[in-house]
Amino acid sequence: MQKLRLREGLILVIYFFFYASLAAVITLCMYTLFLTITPYMPTFTERVKPPGVMIRPFAHSLNFNFNVSEPDTWQHYVISLNGFLQGYNDSLQEEMNVDCPPGQYFIQDGDEDEDKKACQFKRSFLKNCSGLEDPTFGYSTGQPCILLKMNRIVGFRPELGDPVKVSCKVQGKPTAEAERAVCSLTRWDEGRLGYRGDENDIRSINYYPESASFDLRYYPYYGKLTHVNYTSPLVAMHFTDVVKNQAVPVQCQLKGKGIINDVINDRFVGRVIFTLNIET
Ligand SMILES: *[C@@H]1O[C@H](CO)[C@@H](O)[C@H](O)[C@H]1NC(C)=O
Ligand SMILES: *[C@@H]1O[C@H](CO)[C@@H](O)[C@H](O)[C@H]1NC(C)=O
Ligand SMILES: *[C@@H]1O[C@H](CO)[C@@H](O)[C@H](O)[C@H]1NC(C)=O
Ligand SMILES: *[C@@H]1O[C@H](CO)[C@@H](O)[C@H](O)[C@H]1NC(C)=O
Repeated sequence: MQKLRLREGLILVIYFFFYASLAAVITLCMYTLFLTITPYMPTFTERVKPPGVMIRPFAHSLNFNFNVSEPDTWQHYVISLNGFLQGYNDSLQEEMNVDCPPGQYFIQDGDEDEDKKACQFKRSFLKNCSGLEDPTFGYSTGQPCILLKMNRIVGFRPELGDPVKVSCKVQGKPTAEAERAVCSLTRWDEGRLGYRGDENDIRSINYYPESASFDLRYYPYYGKLTHVNYTSPLVAMHFTDVVKNQAVPVQCQLKGKGIINDVINDRFVGRVIFTLNIET
């Protein structure tokens, strides 16, 4: 009887130490894991994603449809652009950010939790698409401006001397590769690919800045915790002579080393597809 109780006690003690050491090991693991995770650099997803793009003004289904002679049909685009450009106000940019030299990275050494300065991107850089000279951004004359922004990726650096460029054209016939992939597309995408735009429907596009690129000085981006005043660079496309009274499918792509812009099932990785339908 005595022996049995002793053995029971022993088992309890062994179990106690077993679980205690298990708990200790787990705690230690968690602790070291938390030590190695820093909030300043992305650990998994953010860094590997290829850049996506976003355009403004906001347009339902990316269909820019308006009648030049009816301001009600395009006024919301102007409001959307003005709202979007608030943060790019020249005086605000001068107050928040520094004027850094173009053509080179703006690298800031120091601790990763130190606040980083950001480079100015003023709305006046967008010239005829800044809304400063022409407060309707060209919509009142059937020459709409559309702004393009590349999504932020912490640590992303374009190739030195080779900034990421924007290039737009009428979306012509789908490539053979696209044709083959059509079966995997949604009906909506199929409709878009089905447009057979004529190369000449756009005629001319003015880009602002004229280089149509995102200057290297806006890279790298250090993340929202330390790079609080960071202002994403923009490229404005001014469609000055688009064919009127018909839908013109346009594809704008990012071009640059390491940029992916032809993922069939994702129309926002490295490119954007929209339609201009300007009535007069
Ligand atoms: C933007 O700048 C203009 C002058 O250029 C100024 O009148 C306006 O108040 C500014 N807006 C903001 C939100 O800073
Ligand atoms: C961010 O902008 C504010 C002014 O709006 C300025 O006081 C602050 O110093 C700026 N931060 C950095 C890190 O430049
Ligand atoms: C920009 O707009 C001005 C008038 O606002 C015009 O004279 C000039 O030709 C335009 N520039 C371009 C490149 O379209
Ligand atoms: C555009 O608006 C004008 C004036 O309201 C109208 O006469 C014209 O038919 C409209 N154009 C189209 C293509 O609906």
